Amino acid sequence: MEIHSWRDMLDPYDLAVRELITKFEHLQYEHKVRGIYCPIERVTGRVKSISSILDKMQKKHVEISEIETRFEDLAGVRIICQFVEDIPKVVHMIHERTDMHVKYEKDYIEHMKSSGYRSYHVIVDYEVQTMMGPKKIQAEIQIRTMGMNFWSTIEHSLQYKYKQNIPPHIREKLMKCAEAIVHLDSEMSSVREEIMDAQNSMRTQEHLVAQILLQIQNLYSMANKREIAKIQDEFYEIYRENDMEKLEHFHRQLDIIAEGYQAQSLTYPPLCS
Ligand code: GTP
Ligand code: MG
Repeated sequence: MEIHSWRDMLDPYDLAVRELITKFEHLQYEHKVRGIYCPIERVTGRVKSISSILDKMQKKHVEISEIETRFEDLAGVRIICQFVEDIPKVVHMIHERTDMHVKYEKDYIEHMKSSGYRSYHVIVDYEVQTMMGPKKIQAEIQIRTMGMNFWSTIEHSLQYKYKQNIPPHIREKLMKCAEAIVHLDSEMSSVREEIMDAQNSMRTQEHLVAQILLQIQNLYSMANKREIAKIQDEFYEIYRENDMEKLEHFHRQLDIIAEGYQAQSLTYPPLCS
């Protein structure tokens, strides 16, 4: 196969990976702006490299003409979650979508692989629009926790280093690490509510501070500079106190001040309008 035909073959997969990443990141964004916890922590993706396609063809005795049907991971997307509990939520989200169709799933969390690998895989059919028209391709979505991702990234590098023949004593260590990650994931799940609470209040504070700064900025066009400087100083002081209730109160006060200015400008329209 010539170089350019590799590119022709892989380009739609590249498009699919980029579209899928954008779509999952958009879900994260939608949760964020609504202040709702998102089960997706991070999204990455890649098109399988030509060299690993060649390796896999050799290993699995696959002909060039069969690549697209036999290899479901030419387009690969990885969704990283904070907690094991987030994984079924992400799987549900995928099932609910109408722009991808689930072909089948592999649950390596319930059934850990003998290597110690854990992850949830969803193989989907996904359609991209190309210059030549629509093209239906397969994509592999791997969903895993940060802990599972840590393990598999390290193990993958070792597989590469030892050309798939990891020495038994290292295998043993990896197995121990895999067990430690199972434990870590379950310990994290047990303090999940507390972690989520902390993250929620962090998000609420960020949101509130952004709103207050926007209010102050809007006041620039209405109030005089001295008054704005006073408001700003007051804000920094309250911020330092780290008291959400005071911040919320300050936010409401600013609303009242802004309303006052707006009412004034309606009563006394500018002379040159
Ligand atoms: P591959 O030929 O590796 O694609 O295997 P497969 O087509 O039989 O499917 P499988 O579900 O076993 O693996 C799909 C993908 O999961 C792989 O391409 C890896 O990204 C990942 N994976 C599976 N097993 C392991 C493992 O033992 N270690 C690591 N690090 N990743 C794994
Ligand atoms: Mg595979």
